[in-house]
Amino acid sequence: MLQIAIDGPSGAGKSSVAKAVAKKMGIVYVDTGALYRTVGYYVRSRGVARTDAEGIVKCLPEITIEVRYAEGAQRVFLNGEDLGDRIREPEISMYASAVSAIPEVRAFLLDTQRDIAAKNSVIMDGRDIGTVILPNANVKIFLYASNEARAERRTRELREKGMQVCYEDVLREMIERDSNDRNRAVAPAVAAPDAVLLDNSALSVEQTVDAVIALVEEKTKE
Ligand code: DC
Repeated sequence: MLQIAIDGPSGAGKSSVAKAVAKKMGIVYVDTGALYRTVGYYVRSRGVARTDAEGIVKCLPEITIEVRYAEGAQRVFLNGEDLGDRIREPEISMYASAVSAIPEVRAFLLDTQRDIAAKNSVIMDGRDIGTVILPNANVKIFLYASNEARAERRTRELREKGMQVCYEDVLREMIERDSNDRNRAVAPAVAAPDAVLLDNSALSVEQTVDAVIALVEEKTKE
């Protein structure tokens, strides 16, 4: 079973790259951020503030999350319902970041992530895949880019999904979210000591995909 871990800040292109690599290599792409987004969505729908850690933890027993794959695409079901792009809204991004700092939430989502990797060859993207979820991954990559490059990509991506967003708001929220994710006490979003750092500020998705595949080939040959 092959395990490729891709961590890094938001907007670094992890999901586009991982999705393309999965397709080329015939393995499963796992978007772990979608799980935190789903918890964030539920908590918000219950009217719990994102600063209310106790209230968030109380919601967990009410949540059942199921991950399914159809034609290479991941779908996450919250209590039986597929939320689709509703989990991509900027407000849900902030909720996802807030809930992800709570140890009980991370523990709640741990088995779901490890179970998928136990049953399939995977390329999994997130913040703590190389450090916590798959510490023995065959290949670990920490993908990053400048704040401006990432905010531009994220703005374009959200607009393509039909959301009306402005670059300045996206940039500000992205910086706030990265800072939360990087500085939290549990599973901070940092590179594993054995991860390869890949700056893709000046690379296209295709170039980044080629770089990742070259790394995988090199690492699995060893
Ligand atoms: O990758 P994303 O932007 O969809 O993730 C949303 C939030 O979830 C992100 O701000 C931090 C959190 N997250 C995490 O803590 N650990 C992961 N493995 C994936 C996401």
